[in-house]
Amino acid sequence: MWKKILALFVGVLVGYWLIDDFNPNVLRGKRVVVTGSSTGIGEQIAYHYARMGADLLITARREKVLQQVVTRCKELGPEGGRYFYKSADMANMSATKEVIQEAIDRLGGIDILVLNHILPIPLGLWEGTPQNLTLTDKIIDVNFKAYIYLTSHALPHLTVTNGSIIVVSSLAGKIGQPFTAVYSATKFALDGFFGGLRQEFKLRGCDVSITLCVIGLVGTENAIRGLRDYGQHYLLEMLPAETPSDTALAIIRGGAKRQREIFHPYLSLKIMTLLRDWIPNIVEFINRSMFTVPA
Ligand SMILES: NC(=O)c1ccc[n+]([C@@H]2O[C@H](COP(=O)([O-])OP(=O)(O)OC[C@H]3O[C@@H](n4cnc5c(N)ncnc54)[C@H](OP(=O)(O)O)[C@@H]3O)[C@@H](O)[C@H]2O)c1
Repeated sequence: MWKKILALFVGVLVGYWLIDDFNPNVLRGKRVVVTGSSTGIGEQIAYHYARMGADLLITARREKVLQQVVTRCKELGPEGGRYFYKSADMANMSATKEVIQEAIDRLGGIDILVLNHILPIPLGLWEGTPQNLTLTDKIIDVNFKAYIYLTSHALPHLTVTNGSIIVVSSLAGKIGQPFTAVYSATKFALDGFFGGLRQEFKLRGCDVSITLCVIGLVGTENAIRGLRDYGQHYLLEMLPAETPSDTALAIIRGGAKRQREIFHPYLSLKIMTLLRDWIPNIVEFINRSMFTVPA
């Protein structure tokens, strides 16, 4: 008897997992801000949203590249779609306010805020040098503080629309990673901040969803170059990197379904994260065995 109940339970679970109830039409006409959208995953997020009929304000530092992304969005999106860019450096906190103001001026409101940008930094050992410390301040500003500032400026508008915040994180935000210690720290910090904020929203009846995206290795130009430059390129043969486009779609889908967390790829990252607290030494050993310190 208990075997039948177990089989039924597993069947329901697997069925639920396989059913894809994401309907892209729900994004038609939504007003979306995407940070770090000149290249990599953010660029692909912009293209998917454009295809799905959302209106966009995209942002990053390089104006010329943003213009090209907007042009491509116009080609992909429906007639009448609205696509704007604002070039801004997220190391400068006053720029975070300008980005949100531009979105309000251009789009008339915000339904979805996708926090995705990161400062590109070379991989390396943390040695506490003055250069390490200077870079640490900048990484914390761009990868963490700017996320909080953008959220603060957007929150009054997201509250009106019962909108969504999508935070692009990493396995490095669940398990500390070698050669990227400060990057890892900022991703853990995002989990802490947005985890606390999510609970406050529930406590005060604020219907803004927060989706934390735990992402594995993705074959963006910057990620591949970073691994190559630090002699870790063999990793790309060991671990199949996800494509930026598939990853972008998983992020959009999780946000549209107002999921609290998504894992992409699901099984390997979810299992690593679950085991992290039970057998941390083994999980870290497996994780660590994939890296080598360059001679
Ligand atoms: N790729 C991976 O393997 C991987 C794995 C796990 C998680 N993720 C996460 O996925 C997200 C996107 O990663 P990605 O690989 O697509 O990154 P990427 O290709 O390096 O793109 C980073 C984006 O951020 C922008 N940016 C950098 N510094 C900025 C600054 N100071 N102010 C404003 N914008 C800035 C860049 O544009 P400009 O240079 O024009 O400013 C670019 O659009 C990140 O949150 C990352 O942590 C990536």
